[in-house]
Amino acid sequence: MFKLVTHNRHKYEEMRKIVPGLKMVDMEYPEIQANTLEEVVDFSLEYLSKVIGENFIIDDSGLFIEALNSFPGVYSAYVFDTLGNEGILKLMEEKERREAYFKTVVGIRFEGINYKLVGICHGKIAEEPKGENGFGYDPIFIPEGSEKTFAEMSTEEKNRVSHRGKAIIKLAGFMERFGVH
Ligand code: IMP
Repeated sequence: MFKLVTHNRHKYEEMRKIVPGLKMVDMEYPEIQANTLEEVVDFSLEYLSKVIGENFIIDDSGLFIEALNSFPGVYSAYVFDTLGNEGILKLMEEKERREAYFKTVVGIRFEGINYKLVGICHGKIAEEPKGENGFGYDPIFIPEGSEKTFAEMSTEEKNRVSHRGKAIIKLAGFMERFGVH
């Protein structure tokens, strides 16, 4: 069985609904500054393989807002800690187009080889924060086809449409194919 290396218990709880036996290693690790989530994941997989060994996964995610030229993107964690949801809504004032997407790259280290699985969820930035569930940017993101923000959804509802849910369904397929139990 894989171990998810993360300091974010919310990510683990979401993933565990789809891959029930998943373990968690609560750990922070250095992330490089790069132009894509994929590059960040590649670096972290190499780094962690020396610390953790084999058969673990990581999740690197970001929110990409079209009217802001894909900001915060790879800077999502830093921007959340500094500007927060209120800061993003301020940047979005008077923007007519509110389209955005979440992207998750799940990195897998399995038997000495690195793999990456991607999940994307399109949607829009809400006019105001709503909901108490989830974490991070969930209160300000409304996925396509919904009236609710992620933070107004249960974990199951979010998983059905979310970036992470899509990547983890792919992970379940990977595990089936490679016989990881
Ligand atoms: P990271 O993947 O932990 O680097 O996440 C980058 C930033 O995006 C952090 O501030 C997270 O809180 C936020 N984030 C990641 N995934 C989600 C999500 O599913 N919903 C809302 N915010 C998220």
